[in-house]
Amino acid sequence: MMCFFSTYLLTCILYLAESSHFRGGIISWKPTDNHQIEINYRVAFRASSGHACDANTIENGTLLPGEGSLQCVEGCSDTITTMSYYCTDFSATEDWTSGTNSIKYNLSASSNNLFTFGFSSCCWIPLVEGSSNWRMRTTANLTVRQDTGKINSSPVSAMQPVVRFSYGCDHTLKIPVSDDDGDVVKCRWSKRTPNDECGGVCETLSGSYLDQSSCVLTYNATQSTGWYAVALQIEDFQKTTDTVPFSSVSLQFLIFVANLSESCASRPFLPQNIITDGSILHSSANKIFNESIIARSGAATLRVTAIDTVSPIGMIKSALFPFGTSGREWFVTVTWTPMKSQIGTHLFCYTAVDNLGQTSDQTCATLVVDEEPNDTVVLNQDCNAFKTPEKVHTKCIEATTGVPKIFYLATSCSSYFVQCNELGTGRIVRCAPGTEWCNHVLTCVHSGSCATEG
Ligand SMILES: *[C@@H]1O[C@H](CO)[C@@H](O)[C@H](O)[C@H]1NC(C)=O
Ligand SMILES: *[C@@H]1O[C@H](CO)[C@@H](O)[C@H](O)[C@H]1NC(C)=O
Ligand SMILES: *[C@@H]1O[C@H](CO)[C@@H](O)[C@H](O)[C@H]1NC(C)=O
Ligand SMILES: *[C@@H]1O[C@H](CO)[C@@H](O)[C@H](O)[C@H]1NC(C)=O
Ligand SMILES: *[C@@H]1O[C@H](CO)[C@@H](O)[C@H](O)[C@H]1NC(C)=O
Ligand SMILES: *[C@@H]1O[C@H](CO)[C@@H](O)[C@H](O)[C@H]1NC(C)=O
Ligand SMILES: *[C@@H]1O[C@H](CO)[C@@H](O)[C@H](O)[C@H]1NC(C)=O
Repeated sequence: MMCFFSTYLLTCILYLAESSHFRGGIISWKPTDNHQIEINYRVAFRASSGHACDANTIENGTLLPGEGSLQCVEGCSDTITTMSYYCTDFSATEDWTSGTNSIKYNLSASSNNLFTFGFSSCCWIPLVEGSSNWRMRTTANLTVRQDTGKINSSPVSAMQPVVRFSYGCDHTLKIPVSDDDGDVVKCRWSKRTPNDECGGVCETLSGSYLDQSSCVLTYNATQSTGWYAVALQIEDFQKTTDTVPFSSVSLQFLIFVANLSESCASRPFLPQNIITDGSILHSSANKIFNESIIARSGAATLRVTAIDTVSPIGMIKSALFPFGTSGREWFVTVTWTPMKSQIGTHLFCYTAVDNLGQTSDQTCATLVVDEEPNDTVVLNQDCNAFKTPEKVHTKCIEATTGVPKIFYLATSCSSYFVQCNELGTGRIVRCAPGTEWCNHVLTCVHSGSCATEG
């Protein structure tokens, strides 16, 4: 690959070149070690155009072919990747699949660290405003920051690919944003000039108002029914008063305005769930995260028909079931066992949809995946007694009551393990000569043959 640099910025424009069933997405990035950046993208496509995704695809971790490719257009001039993705969410009724993937991209040393990535696409949906040629442009400045001493990480978002508004109603849409550096994040409309950030979908949704500092879009849906594309740049700044961002991330999604006979107050509603808006939930790598999400219909005559999610890779959503006896509430359960490679923060969002296609406000939370808990039991030098006997009881109870139940723990001595019972009593056991404890298979194996987990 060739990268050409000027003086400070690495601007990689991600052009998703020529994709015809695109339904929006986001392109963000963060630095990794060794003069590399990791570009993260989420893309949504029309499901019925060959983008088959179901619970199996998600569970199996199947990589699906995307459409188009991501190009570096400033600072370098390569095709970075085709837009293959791990499907994370799908809607049969709205005919979309959405998924995400990341790619590590090596950068050449240079005095100008600005890169721009781009993607362009042609959308099959006839839009109320705009020409339905999509173009995305994300910019990264890889200069080491003076305030943090590190290279910046861009802001991220987790928008649904399709947002539904009701004709005649006033809508407030909060764009979920987050930034790993804790920077000030602002949103603005993408522009055609001086650099084309949005092709035919620039500054649509006339009559709407975007509050740049809160990233809240308000729109009174009194113009036309039908499809609108929204193209925004999400930008991070050191201070509120700064005008030059560290990075500019392209976010695009669709709004559908439908003419419904119900009153504006009859939209579905999300009661206080464990995963509340703005909450931060912790889980650990290789441990099961399992939560239910309840939604309520906006009127006795209406039914909740879906709870749509924007999920991290590998999260499975159950079917929708009735909840309680009110006849107005339904729930899904989301289950996720994060991989070690997913240690870090993930935005997770959901909305409820009813039988008229009305949607609730979006609820978004941050899921933090921590390192695996250290279950190692420390033994004395001779490996025949616990160093901290008082901790063994707790560790055995945790292990034997967890999901799945585990009856063995690793120790600080490689040829020994602890056998627990459900009363919390642990017993030190020695592996047969020539073997050692191998914790991820929970058995003793020939010394040196316990391959570490991927
Ligand atoms: C995905 O999983 C299902 C069952 O869970 C299995 O039947 C199918 O063959 C798997 N597909 C792939 C591509 O691994
Ligand atoms: C990127 O750099 C890493 C180490 O710095 C190297 O192992 C890898 O092969 C490089 N990849 C490409 C595509 O040049
Ligand atoms: C890139 O970031 C550096 C350090 O924050 C700043 O001095 C420089 O002006 C930025 N370049 C551009 C083009 O924004
Ligand atoms: C939407 O209508 C309300 C009154 O119903 C008004 O206060 C608000 O300013 C309007 N918003 C926009 C963006 O036109
Ligand atoms: C909305 O539906 C009503 C009743 O069906 C109809 O009278 C009105 O013209 C429709 N408006 C639009 C913009 O389609
Ligand atoms: C997740 O929670 C649901 C509801 O509480 C429960 O029925 C299900 O068995 C749990 N699944 C796992 C894998 O723990
Ligand atoms: C777990 O803790 C023990 C004792 O403090 C330490 O020796 C071991 O390296 C730790 N293991 C991991 C995977 O952090």
